[in-house]
Amino acid sequence: MEYTRLGDTGLKISRLALGCMSYGDPTTEGAHRWALADDDAQPFFQQAVELGITFWDTANTYQAGTSEEVVGRTIKRFTRREDIVLATKVWGKMHDGPGGSGLSRKAILEQIDASLTRLGTDYVDLYQIHRFDPGTPVAETMEALHDIVKAGKVRYLGASSMYAWQFAKLQHAAGQGGWTRFVSMQNQYNLLRRQDEPELMAMCADTGVGLVPYSPQGKGRLARPWGEQSTRSSVDHVVQAFDSPLDEPVVNAVQKLAEARGVTMAQIALAWVLRNPAVSAPIVGATKPHHLPEAVAALELKLTDDEAATLEEPYSNRGPSWY
Ligand SMILES: NC(=O)c1ccc[n+]([C@@H]2O[C@H](COP(=O)([O-])OP(=O)(O)OC[C@H]3O[C@@H](n4cnc5c(N)ncnc54)[C@H](OP(=O)(O)O)[C@@H]3O)[C@@H](O)[C@H]2O)c1
Repeated sequence: MEYTRLGDTGLKISRLALGCMSYGDPTTEGAHRWALADDDAQPFFQQAVELGITFWDTANTYQAGTSEEVVGRTIKRFTRREDIVLATKVWGKMHDGPGGSGLSRKAILEQIDASLTRLGTDYVDLYQIHRFDPGTPVAETMEALHDIVKAGKVRYLGASSMYAWQFAKLQHAAGQGGWTRFVSMQNQYNLLRRQDEPELMAMCADTGVGLVPYSPQGKGRLARPWGEQSTRSSVDHVVQAFDSPLDEPVVNAVQKLAEARGVTMAQIALAWVLRNPAVSAPIVGATKPHHLPEAVAALELKLTDDEAATLEEPYSNRGPSWY
């Protein structure tokens, strides 16, 4: 495994992060029906530890909190809390009450404690706002986040998918108040969705905010030939959003290069994301035993500029894509 720093912080992270949206109880309200429940999820955490993937990303909302519970249990079972860089998120709806969603002071103070309980730990390393909350003043959000950092519950702050102007507004509020700023951005980035390149990602690169992009393998769509289905792709509407005639030539280009290089499509997709110097660590999803070892092997796969250009040529911008 390679290790790097998260953006311009001193935090050492593995060059790949384990995406824990794939794990937790699939029968809970709002859960991904394809998620792997506790017993089926455990081997992936063990594999991650063995491969040196020590940066793990979850969220309070994944499988209604049960993803966090699985993560908490597996840390105790397979590793030590000190050896994991643990990231989770706040914003999504956990209940109907005023503290159940969004980025108000009430919500942030309630949700961090609920996450810590489920994770079975005193602190998270990276606490990320899952989206922008237009219903809360940015200063209220940033001061509340600063307070939980100062209370020792959170080491670093991060943000996820939003417009660049929203991220700039939040960072500016933190600067004005003398509060903790975001050090990372988790946005969707893959060969099928590159709409953040000219604004959000350029801003992060310029200001030393580390990118930890999600869905680098196009949620599976870039990892198998066009039209091939899996359990996840047959039930998940977000994955099915890729089933567009605009996306097909990109998938075909990945397949062609994978065949020419004698590697898997997943590895080509991942190697392309890893080429971007602003990317600290892509967050990969794994639902089968060969997924994580293949992702680690992709760290060795270097694409030439010509190969990258061939992959990028069929892309067309489809505008904002938040999921
Ligand atoms: N902040 C946010 O809003 C947000 C949104 C989405 C995700 N995330 C984070 O990002 C993480 C990763 O997201 P993701 O699962 O969409 O990422 P991804 O890595 O693009 O997709 C993972 C999927 O790709 C397929 N795959 C992976 N390796 C493969 C291989 N070697 N060969 C063939 N297929 C392979 C599998 O699909 P099948 O299961 O279909 O086989 C797997 O479920 C999540 O767990 C979560 O932590 C965050």
